[in-house]
Amino acid sequence: MDNEKKARRYERIIVQLSELLTKTNNPPSRMATIIAVLHNKMDNFSWTGYYHLIEGELLVGAYQGPLACQKLQNNKGVCWSSINKKETIVVENVHDFEGHIACDSRSNSEIVVPIRNKEGEILACLDIDSMELNNFNEVDAKYLEQIVKMIYL
Ligand code: SME
Repeated sequence: MDNEKKARRYERIIVQLSELLTKTNNPPSRMATIIAVLHNKMDNFSWTGYYHLIEGELLVGAYQGPLACQKLQNNKGVCWSSINKKETIVVENVHDFEGHIACDSRSNSEIVVPIRNKEGEILACLDIDSMELNNFNEVDAKYLEQIVKMIYL
């Protein structure tokens, strides 16, 4: 998908989410709704979900896609890098990322976006995998960072 088309798609998703996310302020319900919309509306998202930072561990939350690791080994892989650096990480080819944790061997690229509450504390990350190489870029980063800000009010 070219960047222009991708941007328009995310913009439609944001409009849809702002209508859907009016029923409850409960973050887990809002997170599940966001995941369902992203996974089903975007092309080439093979796994779309969250890892929650709980007592120093990254534990899986709501997701769509194949069975994933429940707990990620400490300070290893893309999700931990994103949490530790406090920034979005785009991985064009997961096989080139030192320490990548392969929950699904068919995954080839991924993006991880940290999720903050209103006080700015990082509580979780959004993790999206694709079987396509180089599926994610700065357009995904920009819109997904906007979308995760819709979780905590
Ligand atoms: N990609 C993650 C592992 C979780 S799966 O992608 C669902 C990582 O290396 O942190």
